Amino acid sequence: MQIIRGKAELRQALSMLREGGGTVALVPTMGALHAGHIALVAEARRRATHVVASIFVNPTQFGANEDLSRYPRREAGDARMLEEAGTAILWAPDVETMYPDGPEIDVKAGPASAGLDGDARPGHFDGVATVVARLFAQVEPDIALFGEKDYQQLLVIRQMVASQGLGIDIVGVPTLRDADGLALSSRNAYLSDEERRSARALPRALGEAAQAIIDGTPVAEAIDRARDRLAAAGFAPVDYVELRDAASLEPMAALDRPARLLAAGFLGHTRLIDNLPVDPAP
Ligand code: PAF
Repeated sequence: MQIIRGKAELRQALSMLREGGGTVALVPTMGALHAGHIALVAEARRRATHVVASIFVNPTQFGANEDLSRYPRREAGDARMLEEAGTAILWAPDVETMYPDGPEIDVKAGPASAGLDGDARPGHFDGVATVVARLFAQVEPDIALFGEKDYQQLLVIRQMVASQGLGIDIVGVPTLRDADGLALSSRNAYLSDEERRSARALPRALGEAAQAIIDGTPVAEAIDRARDRLAAAGFAPVDYVELRDAASLEPMAALDRPARLLAAGFLGHTRLIDNLPVDPAP
């Protein structure tokens, strides 16, 4: 695996990779990798000839009071994991290379960014859309893979690719979970032992609410119960628990089409998000 930090070097490595033919998949990450990221690489290898992964902790997607400065950085271990997983190129630019004119937003996220994390983290999805557009221009992949844990991000990127006519196939990969159901996330490393135990309430509350909605409980009632359960487990604040259309992310008051139940909240200083598919009973 080549570790590349400069744009000219990246162009050269990509053209050599493409000389042999085949397709290129991109797995964008912010590092601090876990099995969920490696599942993205594994899926990328199934779908494409060559895998390029990127590690870049993107300053434009963090709010002023968020965790940019303490976001876990461990590139050497990440590189070993990516190499073992069969990655051909690790693209690891620094901030000056990614943002030569300074970190600035130049892509506005589309309608899927409305509400949910778009409200809780103003500007976050503009930062994501900006950096992912730059990564796509740098790597020119045939496909790119993103985890479904960040479901709203996945739809924001799908919309961006469609509206800019980029012709990149955006693949969502199901969330990997620990044995107790907690979704794998780089931010789980922030949790104390007690918070880690409380965090189980998030997938459980979502699972119970999803089943209740499928069984006919009114959506608002199931969501209220999930919010109460999260608050009782120590989530403060609970940013949202919402049922949204699985394809457009429009709000839904009843389960009349495929949906996604999404939730976010803080345990101490750590913000956790999760979501589950909720499909109407056949
Ligand atoms: O999901 C992430 O790790 C980031 O938001 C991404 C897509 C790499 C953009 O910085």
